[in-house]
Amino acid sequence: MNLTTKDSKAALTSTDLLVVLGLENSRLSLPTGVKVPALSTQSFKGEFREARLTDAIGGAAQRVLKIGLGKAADTDMERLRRAAAIAVKKAEKVRARSVVIWCAAAIEKAAGGAEACGQALAEGALMGAYVCDAYKSDAKPPYLKKTTLVGSGARFKKGAARGTAIGEANCFARSLQDAPGNLMRPRDMAMSARKVAGRSARITCKVLDEKAMAKLGMGSLLSVSRGSSEPAYLIHLTYKPTKKPSKKLCLVGKGLTFDAGGISIKPSAKMDEMKYDMSGGAAVLGVFHALAKLSPTAEVHGIVATSENLPDGKANKPGDIVTAMNGTTIEVLNTDAEGRLILADALAYAAKKVKPDATVDLATLTGAVVVALGHELSGVMGNDEKLQDALVESGQRTGELVWRLPLLDCHKTHVKGNFADLRNINSGQGAGSTAGAAFLSHFVGDMKWAHLDIAGAAWGVDDRDYQGGAKGTGVGVRLLTDWIG
Ligand code: BES
Ligand code: ZN
Ligand code: ZN
Repeated sequence: MNLTTKDSKAALTSTDLLVVLGLENSRLSLPTGVKVPALSTQSFKGEFREARLTDAIGGAAQRVLKIGLGKAADTDMERLRRAAAIAVKKAEKVRARSVVIWCAAAIEKAAGGAEACGQALAEGALMGAYVCDAYKSDAKPPYLKKTTLVGSGARFKKGAARGTAIGEANCFARSLQDAPGNLMRPRDMAMSARKVAGRSARITCKVLDEKAMAKLGMGSLLSVSRGSSEPAYLIHLTYKPTKKPSKKLCLVGKGLTFDAGGISIKPSAKMDEMKYDMSGGAAVLGVFHALAKLSPTAEVHGIVATSENLPDGKANKPGDIVTAMNGTTIEVLNTDAEGRLILADALAYAAKKVKPDATVDLATLTGAVVVALGHELSGVMGNDEKLQDALVESGQRTGELVWRLPLLDCHKTHVKGNFADLRNINSGQGAGSTAGAAFLSHFVGDMKWAHLDIAGAAWGVDDRDYQGGAKGTGVGVRLLTDWIG
């Protein structure tokens, strides 16, 4: 979909569908010249998500769709995202080829200014238009080709440009997530990373194969891929700003393109969902997709450890002992706790080779986080209070909500091994999500680090108009682009 902006002072261009956003208890203003039957305006209350479609009786639009945002005090970026998503979905339904979303100054004010408004509308329109029909033989191209966002001046335009980069990146991450495991293998993740790097001269991509990883001593990561005929890769993307970087940040993603559990095999019900076990990796690639356009002042590294976890003659067996890149030995007591095994080496690599000012990993690490927080929030744990709080704040701004979970010294002790330094599960103390984070904490060295468990938020979330249901959410892209700044 082609998305552009226009200043509200300019005359309205002719369009199949004009969308006007309205606040509750305030008079709905229409662009000059547009006329609709009186009754359709009188009966519109402007309640949040109220939508009223009517044929226009004059002006540059064929039809007019009014969408309510609710009270001015409750209007925020999230409501605008949802309204924009409702707009493009309705446009597609009525087979409109073009839609104009018209935003009055009062709405920009209510939503935190023209820039925030432009960003939210662009994000919502792009995310709302996301479909995954690449694998349907009768897929048809969308009717809606052109979306124009109308708002005030340069700030609105600037916000919309940011929202476009982020919205497109979210859809890119979702398309990686929704791809089936046989078409999104570790090698396909690596190829996608190379393509992302190709979008900007400031992004480079290095892909370490199994030989290179063996040379670095990544025995933990390699023990997971040994159970599959598909080789593992460690993807390392680097974004460098044009000027001297303000700081160095690192993102690390779990890229398990399919997790059958290995020898500790999972039950077959819903096992298909384990194609989503690469959602952390998809988010990292998504962030770099956006970075090509956003040009932040920080240097950003993105590391994705990508592998399959399958049972095979060479697969990890419960009780096996492997050695990670930092020399730590690990008893693999449950082969289904494989995410932490590959992240152990990815984090040790970041600590040794990147030495960032702060590192955030994203992983669909534990079913336990779904029990604790459900699907509408991600859990955050780590070794730095400020970093975790900053992620919670980014969550509030973006709607990708984050909730803090504990990580104490006792939890780190719970994963000490009997035969090796560590064990990859605790010995029955509960706190499953914290146990995963506690294990990872032994590989971060002296990095400031936060771990996001996105196992709930990556798919299967509530309907929010721009996302929801069985499909992937691209969680992490909006959160981390906000955090990077
Ligand atoms: N990929 C799973 C976690 C997961 C489960 C994500 C369900 C989303 C939905 C992870 O590799 C795993 O299997 N974790 C185990 C850990 C356990 C063996 C300590 C789990 O959560 O059951
Ligand atoms: Zn697993
Ligand atoms: Zn997994």
